[in-house]
Amino acid sequence: MKILVLNGSPKKGKSDTMKITNAFISGMKEFADQDVQIINTIDKHIEYCTGCFSCMRNGGICIHDDDMKEILDRILESDLLLCSFPVYCYGMPASLKALIDRTLPLSSMAMQKVGDRYEHIGQADFSKLRYLMICGCGFPNSEYNFEPAAAQFRLLFADNSTVVTIPESPMFNAPEAAVVTVPRLELVAKAGKQYAETGSIEPELLEQLCSPMIPEEQYAAIVNGTV
Ligand SMILES: Cc1cc2nc3c(=O)[nH]c(=O)nc-3n(C[C@H](O)[C@H](O)[C@H](O)COP(=O)(O)O)c2cc1C
Repeated sequence: MKILVLNGSPKKGKSDTMKITNAFISGMKEFADQDVQIINTIDKHIEYCTGCFSCMRNGGICIHDDDMKEILDRILESDLLLCSFPVYCYGMPASLKALIDRTLPLSSMAMQKVGDRYEHIGQADFSKLRYLMICGCGFPNSEYNFEPAAAQFRLLFADNSTVVTIPESPMFNAPEAAVVTVPRLELVAKAGKQYAETGSIEPELLEQLCSPMIPEEQYAAIVNGTV
């Protein structure tokens, strides 16, 4: 499978979330060979969308001449778009959001009703794409934290989208937390293998992945230096 990872963490290879993403991909590789490309969004020249809509009216040509042209080609070549990012202010980091805004050339102005809502009709064929969000965050709580980012992702990529959210993610870069992070990364790899095999993750496993690794109060006390 051709996997395009959009790494939205400005910490690039040192990202807490990428530790989770790498474990997920290693699980996918246990099932079958995978062709993985990683784009660190912070490194790319991506102008902001100006909202002119000319791309949606003229067959997908954007007014900007920057790295997005190549990125759109790479998205269209892929089977899986894997967005790996930390929660920033309850959403995605700005460099990844700028990239997502600039995928507008893939759609036309025309809209159609799908279920209860409207979607733009594509002007490129990306029907084979599946979408996966892997998201870390600094707080110990998943509720009242991941919901905006997860809802945005599901609305953007309604079909074939899977969302994995893991709280307390700075622990993945703390060697002293290995006693809880190593088993969690093993579970993540198990989910990756399952996803490669079946296209989904069992709800029980997903719930385990998304739970805090240590009790919330203990995590907060460690961060606050009160233990
Ligand atoms: C600008 C900014 C905003 C953040 N907003 C949130 C937030 O809303 N909720 C949260 O739990 N953590 C928040 N965090 C913490 C990061 O999600 C956390 O440090 C994460 O582990 C960083 O992951 P990374 O290493 O993959 O970049 C924020 C961090 C920054 C720098």
